[in-house]
Amino acid sequence: MIIRSAASDRRGKSFTVPVDGILYGGDYNPEQWSPQVWVEDAALMQQAGVTVVTLGVFAWGTLEVADNVFDFGWLDRVFEILHEHGIAVILATPTAAPPMWLIESDPEIMTTDASGVRTGSGGRLGWSPSSSTFRGYALRMVERLATHYADHPALVLWHVSNELGNENGYDFGEESAEAFRLWVQAKYPTVEQLNRAWGTSFWGHTFTSFSQVTPPRFARTNHNPALLLDFDRFTSHALLQHYLAERDVLRRITPQIPITTNFMVMRSGGVQDYAAWAEETDVVSNDHYTIGADPLRHEELSFSADRTRGIAHGAPWLLMEHAAGSVNWQGRNASKTPGELTRNSLAHVARGADAVCFFQWRQSAAGAEQFHSGMVPHAGPDSAIFREVTALGRTLHRISEVSGARLSRGDAALLWDQQAVWAFNSTRKPADDIPFHAMPLALHAALNHHHVATDVIAPTADLNGYRLVVVPHLFLAHPELAARLTAYAEAGGHVLVSYLSGIVDRTGAVILGGYPGAFRDLLGLRADEFHPLMNAETLPIVTTAGATWTASDWTESLQLGTATSYASYASGRLQGSPAITENPVGAGTASYLSTRLGALELDEYVGHLIEVAGIRPLASAPREVEITRRSSTEHDYFFAINHLQVDAQVDLGRPAFDLVTGTAFDGQLVAGSVAVLKTERSEDGAVLKTERRPD
Ligand code: GLA
Repeated sequence: MIIRSAASDRRGKSFTVPVDGILYGGDYNPEQWSPQVWVEDAALMQQAGVTVVTLGVFAWGTLEVADNVFDFGWLDRVFEILHEHGIAVILATPTAAPPMWLIESDPEIMTTDASGVRTGSGGRLGWSPSSSTFRGYALRMVERLATHYADHPALVLWHVSNELGNENGYDFGEESAEAFRLWVQAKYPTVEQLNRAWGTSFWGHTFTSFSQVTPPRFARTNHNPALLLDFDRFTSHALLQHYLAERDVLRRITPQIPITTNFMVMRSGGVQDYAAWAEETDVVSNDHYTIGADPLRHEELSFSADRTRGIAHGAPWLLMEHAAGSVNWQGRNASKTPGELTRNSLAHVARGADAVCFFQWRQSAAGAEQFHSGMVPHAGPDSAIFREVTALGRTLHRISEVSGARLSRGDAALLWDQQAVWAFNSTRKPADDIPFHAMPLALHAALNHHHVATDVIAPTADLNGYRLVVVPHLFLAHPELAARLTAYAEAGGHVLVSYLSGIVDRTGAVILGGYPGAFRDLLGLRADEFHPLMNAETLPIVTTAGATWTASDWTESLQLGTATSYASYASGRLQGSPAITENPVGAGTASYLSTRLGALELDEYVGHLIEVAGIRPLASAPREVEITRRSSTEHDYFFAINHLQVDAQVDLGRPAFDLVTGTAFDGQLVAGSVAVLKTERSEDGAVLKTERRPD
């Protein structure tokens, strides 16, 4: 397998990982088991078709048993056993969980919460990315580990720490406060500039010295949203600095080994700007866990996978963790339904993953995650989970030629920006219970129901070649984006903007003159007031085509300039006023969705936009069948995933061979099954081109 990321491409570097096909495996924590189990594990891994495991994720305390006293003996033996069985190793720097002796000797390495309470021992992460003491210990550990395993033939990839920021997102302690002040001062060289940018005359919060700047510690009202936005930016930066420090040690000692760190792109309210982080990795990897109580969890998964691919600029990426069965952190932890493990795994591959890995290989008997599933459950290999794990290993082997193929460039693009998420979450809006994710997910799902190839990309990415660009809840928008979207529409592109987009500028200040400030001209309208609907309140709207739909959550009083109404309110205070509009812009259009529609109605509306944009779906199939296409130089590989409990008809319009069943595809997709359909490559199978993210 060849690893080439957008970032390593720019360095003129690619890495050959000596494992064929799609990587298959998971986190392996042999320190929890006896050497006899290690040998049994390696044989079971072979049986399951496992090709790679991640070692060492939480092993600092078993590798550095006391300050500067290292014991690599047990890990050497594990490396040896795995290598003898042909299993490659992703080696994690074990810095996610500091050892007990370190927390005892230097408790100030730990984060402090907003109320001044310092994190104790007993969890993981918890340390401050701004702690120079922690950094020193961590880098010594990394250096020793890298030097020890530098030439081991089983080592194929470095995995820096684990989910950086997951349990050490915000630190309100003194060392972090000092780092924050320096960061603020570097960004705003004078206090006057800082006061202007943050609008500190509100409540008379004017700073007279940088020494007065602190993290948003406990206060009895909410903080200035501009401070919160910058604290998010600082936190992402501080975590990234820690990653870079570890990465640079690894790169110096083992320049031939690629480096990644596992992202969590769907973590709500995440403190990481992964689009920026991705530039610093050799390959993007992501962890993903479905929420068992969500009946549409497979749609959230699809969004996650598309977003990860967008962050990777279209290059193949690695699914570093997901669960074989239930997790242990959702209260009621649903087990997976029959076939769900396979559908979930292949849905990630369908959207660009070249690795399918789990947390974890063997379910723990002890410790905080003892009831989190593993590939080998407590019951052992004689279990439904291990049988499905083994069957999946066979399937991945059958479709191995897909590895390295890129997804065809999408017809639609959906813009996502972490800066907009932070701004959206940092302020009190007229309806604070609207989650940021809801609108992007709903629009992405609607496009998928129509089998439209869709990319989730940064607002800075190149828009050329897309027929439809969707801008959902992009609360913070740079003025240059409006200009680029206008140019894109003028040249024949089609844009859809949802409410709560383009409201604030880069500093978090409202763009004045009517909503949605940044996009008023593009959309040919303005709103002078928001009118959020109360919970469970709905209003009927009628489209120009005569359909009646139901609006919920949000309404605005829109005054049209050049836009025309596509749907308007049939009753209530806005009766007769537009809810959805369309504005002709040059050879294209810019539409505005100022309310929330039900899923089927949104499908209908998006269907209208697809028609306007002249998009051809990837296939003809029911809305619950997921279709994607990966393309190599010679072939297209269509993934068809049937989320229905009945068989479905899928028509690609050309003959295809199903790599999963090893037979010609007759158009019938069995209930709950996945087909990987190989065809000759068609002309329009262009791939998303690697582009540089502007600084
Ligand atoms: C995260 C961590 C893993 C494990 C899983 C449990 O993804 O990286 O170590 O705790 O959660 O779901």
